[in-house]
Amino acid sequence: MSESVVVEGPRRPFAAGIEVPGDKSLSHRALILAAMATGTSTIARAATGRDVQSTRDLVERLGVTVDGDRLTSPGIDGWTIPDAPLDCGNSGTTMRLLAGALSGADGTATLVGDEFLMRRPMRRLVDPLTALGASVSLSEDGTAPVTIRGTGSTTAADVDIPMASAQVRSAFALGALRADGESTITSPTGYRDHTERWLEAMGLGKRESGTTFRIYPGDVPAYNYVIPGDPSSAAFLWAAAAIIPGAQVVTPNVSLNPGRIGFLEVLEAMGATITGEVTGAVLGDPVGTVGVQGNELRGTTVHGALAAAALDELPLVAVVASYAEGITRVSDAAELRAKESDRIATTVAMVNALGGGAQAQQDGFEVLGLGWLDGGVVEAEGDHRIAMAGAVAATGATGPITIAGAESVGVSWPRFFEALEALWSSQ
Ligand code: S3P
Repeated sequence: MSESVVVEGPRRPFAAGIEVPGDKSLSHRALILAAMATGTSTIARAATGRDVQSTRDLVERLGVTVDGDRLTSPGIDGWTIPDAPLDCGNSGTTMRLLAGALSGADGTATLVGDEFLMRRPMRRLVDPLTALGASVSLSEDGTAPVTIRGTGSTTAADVDIPMASAQVRSAFALGALRADGESTITSPTGYRDHTERWLEAMGLGKRESGTTFRIYPGDVPAYNYVIPGDPSSAAFLWAAAAIIPGAQVVTPNVSLNPGRIGFLEVLEAMGATITGEVTGAVLGDPVGTVGVQGNELRGTTVHGALAAAALDELPLVAVVASYAEGITRVSDAAELRAKESDRIATTVAMVNALGGGAQAQQDGFEVLGLGWLDGGVVEAEGDHRIAMAGAVAATGATGPITIAGAESVGVSWPRFFEALEALWSSQ
């Protein structure tokens, strides 16, 4: 059921330290790797949203026992693949990563999702997984249902994919763990390399020159994962602080994977003050504390690898750019059209619904920063990141903002509105 939430921002500085929920990308990976391993793994502080619940439900369907943070798996050779379709909900990461893992399992699985996921492009999986010897079939439009037929092992392959997609790189790597020899994958840069860092730390792969990653076939070990906070969730709080001169937020214990924090570079280029400190790592993937302070902002340009490394945060770039002076140009971001919504269209519609000046381009958008936004109504269009970016826009807006379809935030951050209110009301 569609739910509307009305938010009204403080329009004054605030200062808070806030811990955000566990990282979504890492939670999916921990669940799938723990399901591939034989024995008991634990996953502490996993993400709480519906997307990660979809992955958890599906590994249970494959025969893994999940009890709170503990997962006990018979290992990928013991998976029981049901005849009925496996429902990935709204989660593209669930569908693509599981497709990769299933290409190395014995049996035929069909992956489906909600109305939004059933429209997203899946053809990108076909070449890499077929190169590994799996049989992959899709709808005529190149969308789900995705049917994967595996034989329990794969054939080593070297593939080069045309987009900086961590999901496709990860799907290939998970399938290649079951191969009869070493495999490699290469792509444009800017992707989050979580899977690759974790596999390397487990002795199952190695980074080569450029963006090539080599996968050594082998058994995934059971492991005790501790999931850091999600920088793509923290980004909503960072953006809120950036909008108001003198406002501050500190987010401890977030993933600082270089493919996740392009948005901080964008905020810094716009004039925000950023502090960052690496405090640890999980399997070679850095974790740390980030602070953001708002200042007077100016427009900037975002393209190339930076656009890829800030991709999930580009709706927020449009919001912050509206509070800056001058034009912000985002290009090389055509992948936005393949997200939970067509995020070029929904981002531009969001800004313009609030009295801002945004224009869609084929591979990005332009925002004319006026230094303010009005209140208004933002249609989430089933996209959690648009719902949350619309709410963040209220931080300095002249009137209240209604988020139509606010329930979509539950995909990644069920308690988002409480966290935003806590930030806004801090002193
Ligand atoms: C993700 C990779 C990115 C990102 C998505 C999560 C992941 O997608 O946009 O939200 O966990 O691997 P692409 O692989 O399509 O770039």
